[in-house]
Amino acid sequence: MPRRPEPHTLAELKETVGAGGWLEEPEDLAPYLTDFRRLYRGATPLVLLPRDTDQVARSLSICSRDGVAVVPCGGNTGYCGGATPDESGSQIVLSMRRMNRVRRVDAADHSMIIEAGATLAEAQTAAESADRLFPLSLGSEGTAQIGGNLSTNAGGTAVLRYGMMRDLVLGLEVVLADGRVLKALRNLRKDNTGYDVKSLFIGAEGTLGVITAACLKLFPRPADTATALVGTASPRAALALLGRLRTAAGDQISTFEIMPRIAVELTARYVPGVANPLDMGCEWYLLIELTSPNARAQLSALLAQELEQAAADGLVADAMIAASIAQSQAMWKLRESVPEAQRRYGASLKHDVSVPVSAIPRLIEEGAALVRRLVPDGESIGYGHLGDGNLHFNVSQRPGTDAEAFLRRGRDLEPAVFDLVESLGGSISAEHGIGRLKAAELAHRTDPVELAVMHSLKRALDPQGILNPGKTLILEA
Ligand code: MLT
Ligand code: ZN
Repeated sequence: MPRRPEPHTLAELKETVGAGGWLEEPEDLAPYLTDFRRLYRGATPLVLLPRDTDQVARSLSICSRDGVAVVPCGGNTGYCGGATPDESGSQIVLSMRRMNRVRRVDAADHSMIIEAGATLAEAQTAAESADRLFPLSLGSEGTAQIGGNLSTNAGGTAVLRYGMMRDLVLGLEVVLADGRVLKALRNLRKDNTGYDVKSLFIGAEGTLGVITAACLKLFPRPADTATALVGTASPRAALALLGRLRTAAGDQISTFEIMPRIAVELTARYVPGVANPLDMGCEWYLLIELTSPNARAQLSALLAQELEQAAADGLVADAMIAASIAQSQAMWKLRESVPEAQRRYGASLKHDVSVPVSAIPRLIEEGAALVRRLVPDGESIGYGHLGDGNLHFNVSQRPGTDAEAFLRRGRDLEPAVFDLVESLGGSISAEHGIGRLKAAELAHRTDPVELAVMHSLKRALDPQGILNPGKTLILEA
């Protein structure tokens, strides 16, 4: 078990990162002590801000020698408390924010090497400067860091076309718990030399090693884009439309997002500059985007033709294809404002879950029935990445009801939602991670053999349990 750091350990760590490389004043530590959703409040004696991989390696070898726990921290935009130290005051925080260099962009190889502390937006900009696309895209991309995106295996709004963060990685550089550096920053599309070791660290929330840099895949930039906002009667109709568009446009569909009417109403009410250009009477709304690197792909014409046919067949109630970049941006703003609008509306219960794409209608219908039964003072606001089978099955407190009583009911709803998800062959964590929030559920719901393999890996790579304790896996005392 990790130990409280002695003064000599703290002094040695400070010396390792040098002046400007650490924080210890209460006002400087404060931002690192709580998570984005304010679910947890921890304590730490020291935040380290290493400048390079060598400083991370030396810091970890000191922590390993002295049995001190380390909590890696990126942009701190996560929803599961994965980057917050616990309440003991004995865990050191390792902020990656000064390690934000772009080491290389290789347009010919369609790849880029970037450090863990670079923001996702910085990665996107670096790719663009070489006329390439780094396709991961999330609401928090201006703050979220590449290391955090890797450690939570982030998803977002272009997974349908490009995959999740795991699918975008060619190589990694990782500092192990004992300070050794795993140099696997390879730039290879094919590499069959044994186990895929780098893959272990993706989605591991810093519990198996600290990712310091990554070699990421790049793509051609889109030269033709068609964006549409579509109103439809039901998730089933939306699913049928997705099937038709996949047949008509193949991998050119990069986004297929769904929002219930209440989500659209709330964005228009609470977020300045958001408006719904469609009939407000539709039950569900879709944000659809097709992209191609071929400027002559004529995607707007293709999308218009498909939507017209779908309208004639009763799958589409109303639709608008963006006629300008400004219109397309307004449609995106509507979708990306849903979490903020929901926050402003009142307390909410969040469930980031996935099911096979075809099971989304059942998840929505049966989930809404659970909410009616278990949380009568709540309303279902399930929105998200229909094309990926990933729904943010959220529930908002109805106006005028008691927030605390509503949140308490979440304790009954959550297991019921997770049971439903499991019965549909789904997962209790789609793209936001496990962190501290879902660690007990992971222990309880994961197949025992799979869980045993996870514990074996943890013991092999971090025998003292000093890396991000209490996150992802709960270790026996
Ligand atoms: C989204 O898709 O908007 C986010 O993953 C969910 C959220 O921010 O609540
Ligand atoms: Zn999402």
